[in-house]
Amino acid sequence: MPSPRKLFVTTALPYANGKVHIGHIMEYIQADIWVRHQRMQGSAVHFVCADDAHGAAIMIAAEAAGKTPQQFVAEISAGRKEYLDGFHIGFDNWHSTDAPENHELARQIYRDLKASGLVSSKVVEQFFDPAKAMFLPDRFIKGECPNCHAKDQYGDNCEVCGKVYSPTDLINPYSALSGTTPVLRSSEHFFFKLSDPRCMAFLSDWTRTEGRLQTEVLNKISEWLEPDESGKAAMGDWDISRDAPYFGIEIPDAPGKYFYVWLDAPVGYLASLKNYFDRGGAQAAGESMSYEKFVADPDVEQYHFIGKDIITFHTLFWPAMLHFSGRKVPNKIFVHGFLTVNNGEKMSKSRGTGLDPLKYLSLGMNPEWLRYYLAAKLNGRNEDIDFNADDFMARVNSDLIGKYVNIASRAVKFVPGGKVVKIPTAHLEPATLVDSVKALYEGREYGKALREIMAFADAVNLRFDSAAPWKLVKEGKAGDAAVVCSECLEMFKVLTACLKPVLPELAQQAEAFLKCAPLDWANAVVALGEGHQVGEYRHLMQRVDAKQLDALFEPPAEAEPEKTVPGGEELAPTIGIDDFAKIDLRIAMIVNCEPVEGSTKLLRLTLDVGEGKTRNVFSGIASAYQPAELVGKLTVMVANLAPRKMKFGVSEGMVLAASHADEKASPGIYVLSPWPGAQPGLRVR
Ligand code: MSP
Ligand code: ZN
Repeated sequence: MPSPRKLFVTTALPYANGKVHIGHIMEYIQADIWVRHQRMQGSAVHFVCADDAHGAAIMIAAEAAGKTPQQFVAEISAGRKEYLDGFHIGFDNWHSTDAPENHELARQIYRDLKASGLVSSKVVEQFFDPAKAMFLPDRFIKGECPNCHAKDQYGDNCEVCGKVYSPTDLINPYSALSGTTPVLRSSEHFFFKLSDPRCMAFLSDWTRTEGRLQTEVLNKISEWLEPDESGKAAMGDWDISRDAPYFGIEIPDAPGKYFYVWLDAPVGYLASLKNYFDRGGAQAAGESMSYEKFVADPDVEQYHFIGKDIITFHTLFWPAMLHFSGRKVPNKIFVHGFLTVNNGEKMSKSRGTGLDPLKYLSLGMNPEWLRYYLAAKLNGRNEDIDFNADDFMARVNSDLIGKYVNIASRAVKFVPGGKVVKIPTAHLEPATLVDSVKALYEGREYGKALREIMAFADAVNLRFDSAAPWKLVKEGKAGDAAVVCSECLEMFKVLTACLKPVLPELAQQAEAFLKCAPLDWANAVVALGEGHQVGEYRHLMQRVDAKQLDALFEPPAEAEPEKTVPGGEELAPTIGIDDFAKIDLRIAMIVNCEPVEGSTKLLRLTLDVGEGKTRNVFSGIASAYQPAELVGKLTVMVANLAPRKMKFGVSEGMVLAASHADEKASPGIYVLSPWPGAQPGLRVR
């Protein structure tokens, strides 16, 4: 028997500034299926992920949320488990690129690259936001497109005409953070010298090694590896530093300089693995090597599952970082396409659209339906796939319920006491199915694997239908019915093993029903055998209900226009502008102010509204102001209010003040005053 393989498997580390969306879930499911398949093979697999915590975008998002970046990413991280457990995704470890292991490893890798002579420095001119006192990432500079003159375009490319340019090409650039005009400032940056002939030679070789990359992936990156007309490599050096303020890892011996987030992000794969070893997780899973031994062991295979948008980082920069820092390189990079929902737009990085994973779960929808459906669509190539609601329901109901589950529920009825009988002549041959399915899982051809599995389920159902055990029983041939149905149960067991990487929970329930040992590739075709007693059949899976899908895709209910009660007081009935125009509001200068004898409430104001005479106005603000405070101040008055005769004299208008309906309630009374520059007599409109 060949010694079991040792595998180190990762998925891309999601940015810690957004929730898990359905595109992430697809990637995790793809990798999780592969890992479960490997384990059924007896391989030892360490499967890890982490939050990608660093970068300007996260720093800015944290600031906007009024949190420290550490607080901000910790909260995002705390929400991950719900998604992962919810969809039966079995990472062995989840860590963070801001963890100490990653700081240490990234700094060490940098030192090693530097020692290899592959780090250079150069002064670079970039846009700087004087108001925010920081260099601006391209995405935070906006302006007019130099090509089509569309306004408010990002600094890296125009969303209207598609032109790619650099921020300095923008017309009238402005900072998306402060609105100010950025200025050019120079600063020293560090570069990873990818254009060095050693790097080019290594990468040409590494990327072209047989079986390393998918053909379409290799085609995509080869432009970077071919020399251009001038004979120079097309790939430039990689700017790996950013200036403070930045949320990231400080560069050794370079105060105020930080690693660009993409330098330390993939190092997070190793940091998460190290953390897993350090906390004893790997040992608990039977690993005897130390982390250091493990990552250096040539027999350990390293695989990264990623999406098509981050190919260059994983097939060029990351292997070069590892190789030239004296480390082992990945064996393969598995690239998948993007998931769209109901033919919708590709989901944006931060704002997943279409299918909300937690809503899916909260509707009581079975996570394994989604695993099955996505698996049925996935293949080993870098191709986009679409989630289609009708297709989803049809697939799950017809395959899982109509074909697979159906076998057990029908067959067990004709096996008296659930005791498997001797099968003199086998009608179905599952060994080739299992071999083929194993190979298809290995090559991530899940769609093909499931089609073969369902074709076999069809054959089992056909055997059942054509033998018609219910008729055999009526004809007094219950023994023959038991033989047919025992074989169906045996085949149900094989099918369960075949589906297990995709449907781990359903497989577990089926194992409990079959009363068999946990299924793997070695025991999949070993018969339950004559005399084996299965358990009582309980329904294994519900059908998808169209109502659930309707609910899932129902747009969130338009928020009922809530009756706003600003400041605790209900809004007065709506008026037209004509009603408002009836009120003549004027700026008034308080030329004098006195207490009113006999009143604790009122002050007597003498107001100048630019009429060449003053007005006498009583105002109920004595509880809030000393007369002297108000003299010489501007305020706003209702100048066309009918004069009112009061106990203390005639009031010729009304001064505006803010308060609760109950004036004695906090926060008190506030006289309005215009901004500086207003003149007495100006109308407020
Ligand atoms: N933080 C980086 C990865 C660093 S890895 C060292 C990043 N994060 S991400 O959150 O934007 O994306 C994480 C993964 O999800 C990537 O592999 C990306 O391709 C994948 N997907 C993002 N949207 C997706 C779909 N709509 N469909 C499938 N996968 C998608 O990139
Ligand atoms: Zn344009």
